[in-house]
Amino acid sequence: MKVAVVGATGMVGNVMLQVLAERNFPITELLLVASERSKGKQMEYKGKTYTVIGLQDAVDAKPDIALFSAGGSTSEAWAPKFAEVGCTVVDNSSAWRMDPTKKLIVPEINGDELTKEDKIIANPNCSTIQLVMALAPLHKKYKMKRVVISTYQSVSGTGVKAVEQLENETKGIKGEMAYHYPINRNAIPQCDDFIENGYTKEEMKLVNEPKKILADDSFSVTATAVRIPTAGGHSEAVNIEFVNDFDLAEVRKLLAETPGVIVQDNLDTFTYPMPAYAHNKDEVFVGRIRRDESQANTLNLWIVADNLRKGAATNTIQIGEYLIANELV
Ligand SMILES: NC(=O)c1ccc[n+]([C@@H]2O[C@H](COP(=O)([O-])OP(=O)(O)OC[C@H]3O[C@@H](n4cnc5c(N)ncnc54)[C@H](OP(=O)(O)O)[C@@H]3O)[C@@H](O)[C@H]2O)c1
Repeated sequence: MKVAVVGATGMVGNVMLQVLAERNFPITELLLVASERSKGKQMEYKGKTYTVIGLQDAVDAKPDIALFSAGGSTSEAWAPKFAEVGCTVVDNSSAWRMDPTKKLIVPEINGDELTKEDKIIANPNCSTIQLVMALAPLHKKYKMKRVVISTYQSVSGTGVKAVEQLENETKGIKGEMAYHYPINRNAIPQCDDFIENGYTKEEMKLVNEPKKILADDSFSVTATAVRIPTAGGHSEAVNIEFVNDFDLAEVRKLLAETPGVIVQDNLDTFTYPMPAYAHNKDEVFVGRIRRDESQANTLNLWIVADNLRKGAATNTIQIGEYLIANELV
């Protein structure tokens, strides 16, 4: 496969290269692509040095697969140009996620929706992916009625600039601000921009994307997304009301048997998921599994994952692997 990594110099792009190498993705030719600013920059992949190229050069090289993580406007402008030359684009930005003509894929859940005709495929938002990985098996069994999510999201979810802001603040250095406020020793109840209904775009991604992935809009979702000063890994406190009653032991079993999900839930040993321990892992970790005693058929979960791995790079690469395994590229 001739593979282009678009946004190779960014946070997600860097992890993408790491995950491609770890999983031995079948690459015959690799194109590292970024903005005009980075053109000519040297980067390493599996011990070999590559020169970063621009978007037009990458289109002209006609890659088989392009893994995009270069922001929404770059995707909107360039993904169709890659698709036109026969390339299959897997895009990490929010540009195509809710487009009814594009698929929104978590391979373990709805990979089987993919066909050869899908030339631009959307990767869901990082906080959505870890959420639906845990919700999908439970929804199948007990049918969700309403989901309430509170997120505790790391600065790496915002990109390179935000990671630098936190680092600068911890060292007492004045630098460029990715957020309106200091993030060190703080919690900012704003992830992404606000929209007319008073929610942020991140919160609405959590409301809308799970319905598309699970192909079901019969349940309702509400969310509050909060940025906290963790370097990497997103956490979510999730309250789920089901139509049908559940058995806690069976919930644990269902989650434990779900590929890509690991249950970490032992109160005697203080075992529960935490972002520092999810770092560099591809799985989604679920713990604090307990009944909401204030309401019938309702469950509380704590869900943690590395937002740059399963939340972005790993899921994108798994989509690529699925396409190759099923001869869709
Ligand atoms: N961080 C996460 O947890 C996460 C999770 C899921 C999805 N995403 C999505 O992934 C994308 C990248 O996020 P990130 O966190 O990696 O951001 P980032 O660290 O700021 O990196 C952005 C990347 O995009 C490139 N880029 C920017 N403008 C470009 C342009 N006009 N043409 C070509 N390349 C351009 C940058 O190249 P230069 O270095 O040359 O500027 C860089 O490689 C975003 O769409 C984001 O929403 C992020």
